[in-house]
Formats: sequence, C-alpha cells, structure tokens
Amino acid sequence: MEVGAPRTITYLRVSVTDRCNLRCQYCMPEDQTFFDRSDVLTFEEIRSVATVLVDHGVRKIRLTGGEPLVRRDVHKLVAMLKAIPGEPQVVMTTNGSLLARQAKALKDAGLDRLNLSIDTLRPDRFERISRRPGLPDVLAGVDAARDAGFTGTKINTVVMGGINDDEIPDLLDYAAARDIEQRFIEFMPMASNDHGLAAQRVPLSEIRRRIEAHGPLEPCERGSGPADRFIRKNTGARVGIIAAISLPFCETCNRLRLTAVGTMRSCLFEGGELSVRDLVRSGVGVEQGLVDALEHLRRIKPVVHEGYGYVQMNQVGG
Ligand code: GTP
Ligand code: 5AD
Ligand code: SF4
Repeated sequence: MEVGAPRTITYLRVSVTDRCNLRCQYCMPEDQTFFDRSDVLTFEEIRSVATVLVDHGVRKIRLTGGEPLVRRDVHKLVAMLKAIPGEPQVVMTTNGSLLARQAKALKDAGLDRLNLSIDTLRPDRFERISRRPGLPDVLAGVDAARDAGFTGTKINTVVMGGINDDEIPDLLDYAAARDIEQRFIEFMPMASNDHGLAAQRVPLSEIRRRIEAHGPLEPCERGSGPADRFIRKNTGARVGIIAAISLPFCETCNRLRLTAVGTMRSCLFEGGELSVRDLVRSGVGVEQGLVDALEHLRRIKPVVHEGYGYVQMNQVGG
C-alpha cells in the first residue's frame, strides 16, 4: 500500500453496533455472529474518544452500525455527543426500519441529519436484498423523519445490476418529491460479500447514463464528501454518485473510523487498525494515547485503495 500525504481528520464515523435487524447481501452473511457485548464500547467510552478527537479537529461525527437504531437508547448517545465542547455536528446513517418510533427522540436529542439506506421501493425486492421483510417500516421512517423536522436527509442506494438498477428513475422521483438528495452507490467488494457479487457492480459511467436518461444533469460542488454531486436540470433536485471503485476519493478523504469494539481504522478498505479500547478502559494517559493514534492513522492513509475491503461492512459501518 502506498501512503499519501498526511490528512487533516475532520470527520469521525462511529459504528455503535455491528448488529442489525436486516441482513443485506452486500453487507453481511445470513449466519452472522456478532461481537461479544462486553467488548462493545459504552456510550461513556465513545464520548471520551470523541471528546479528544473533537478537541483535535473533528467537526462531524456520523453514527453508523450495523444498524445504529438497534442499539438501545442511542438518542442518549446523540445528546452526549452534542454536549461535547466544540459543538460537533452529529449525524446518522440508518436503514430507517426502526426510525418511525425513534425520529422524534433523535431530533430532540439534537441529531443534525439523517442518511437513509433504501435500495428498492418494491417489497418483494426488499426482502430479497435484505433477506428480511420490512419496506413499509422503512418508508414510514422516511415520513417520520420529515414530521420530526429533519431536513437535509439523503437516500443511499447501492446499485446492483439485474437486482435494482431498473429502479433508478423511480428512486429519483421518490426522493425529489420529498426534497431528499438521492445518492447511488457503486457496489463495493468486501469480505461481507466474499468480494463477490462483482458481476452486479454497475460502474459510475453506467449509473450516470441511467440517471441522465431520466433527465439532464448539471455538476455541482462536490464538497468533502464521497459523492460526485449534480443538479437535475428538470426538477432542481440534487443527486449524487458514490463511486469508490471507479473513482476513488482517497486523496481528499478526511475520515477516521471507530468500530463498536474500539478499533480505530484509517481507511474503509485498507484498515490501518489500532485498538484503543484497552487504553480507554484503563483510564490512564487516554488523551495522549488517542492523540498519538490520530497522528499515526492520519499519516498512513493510502494514496488509493486496492479496490476491495478485508472486513465486513457491518463491522466498520460503511
Ligand atoms: P455525508 O456526510 O452525507 O456526505 O455522508 P457520507 O456519504 O459520508 O456517509 P454515508 O454513511 O451515507 O455513506 C454513503 C456511502 O459512502 C456508503 O456506501 C459508505 O460505505 C461510503 N463511504 C463513506 N465514507 C467512505 C470512505 O471514506 N471511503 C469509501 N470507500 N466509502 C465511503
Ligand atoms: N457496497 C456499497 N455500499 C455498501 N453499504 C453497505 N455495504 C456496501 C457495499 N458492499 C452501504 C449501505 C449504507 C452505507 C452505510 O453503506 O447501503 O447506505
Ligand atoms: Fe443492516 Fe445496513 Fe448492513 Fe443492511 S447494509 S445489513 S441495513 S447494516
């Protein structure tokens, strides 16, 4: 792996659990065994890591999973993170199926924004992709988020050839009607999917062609995120394409990951793993230890990743 220039880390992705109520084929196997609960960081432990990292430049904390809403009382963690000096943005990526019941508590706790994973609008396909039923709950979650007052919501769709790629127009219309930014994601080969299903990967150029067949696009500012962003000229709606394989964005990557069991990772694909759980649990030299970890990890980010990941998505949080 070739290492790039040291990055400034401003974005922390925290996986609060590796568990999930769904079993999406690209994310984890059906017969998954999960981390031992005693190994999973408590809310207080997550807060102590986040506090140091916010003090050293992190501005945005994204809660991920598995599915973050299966972690009991996760809204309390949101409130704890929002109370950290430095006022980080706290956002979440969720499958939405448990959102209807929790949207208001999350909003009241101060959660700033939501990204929702929706791969299909058809119940039978949902069950095939996620290996569980539940599309109506997800769609109820979208409405509940709006009713709770969330704005700036995005939908993430992993595009899979022969599975859901014919739904690009329907998803564009669904999102535009709700003032939601629709983003299409290239399938990433990971250990979770045996690096397989690769035949299902629809490359960036083809995703773009399909979107444009539904109406012309005008490029807009990319920002520091993973998506190439566009405005649809006919509706004014925003749309993004996340093409980590066709067009890696490693060079501008400003992220660090913290897994549910306290492992910090410099990159989704390449790893650069460092466990900080024992350090945090010892309570000794925590701040200096975390600053050293941050300094190390920001220096070993790759110039470009190898194109596939060695871990399961649900264990790193995407
Ligand atoms: P915004 O803050 O709204 O830009 O969200 P985000 O795109 O950073 O986060 P989200 O959890 O919605 O991720 C969307 C997709 O981008 C998922 O498939 C992630 O796996 C992928 N992704 C996010 N960050 C990275 C990254 O650093 N590297 C790679 N390769 N993929 C990433
Ligand atoms: N390839 C691309 N995106 C993936 N996600 C999970 N697994 C994969 C994969 N193999 C996405 C989910 C969610 C986000 C956290 O990561 O759809 O939106
Ligand atoms: Fe659960 Fe999200 Fe993974 Fe699907 S992609 S199994 S919803 S964590």
